[in-house]
Amino acid sequence: MSKWEKAGKLSEFETGYKWQVEIQNRPVALFRFENNFYAIRNSCLHQGFPLSEGNVNKYMVECPLHGWVYDIRDGKCLSTVNRFTDTYDVRINGDTVEIKLPDLHPAEK
Ligand code: FES
Repeated sequence: MSKWEKAGKLSEFETGYKWQVEIQNRPVALFRFENNFYAIRNSCLHQGFPLSEGNVNKYMVECPLHGWVYDIRDGKCLSTVNRFTDTYDVRINGDTVEIKLPDLHPAEK
C-alpha cells in the first residue's frame, strides 16, 4: 500500500528550486515554484534523462538533452501528443517534505 515517505527536512529545500530525491529507491524530481512543491518521475519519456537537471521556467521543465518540455503540475509532455509522465503527491508535514509514490507493479519489484 502506498504511503507518505520522507523526502527530507523542509529546511533542505529552502534554497534552490529543483532536486533529485530517492523515495523507495526510485529517483524523483522535486520542484518548488511559488512555495508549492511538485514531484514527477525523474526520467524523461524520450530517452530517460533526469528531469531534475532540466531548465525550469515557472511550471515548465525542459529536458536538457533534446528539449522535451513537461508541465510539472500534471506531468503533461508538451513536446509530444497525449503523453504524461508520472506525478506524485507532495505534502509538508511539520518540518518534513513528504512524497507519496504509487505501489510498484509486482513485476517491477
Ligand atoms: S532524453 Fe529528454 S528530450 Fe531526449
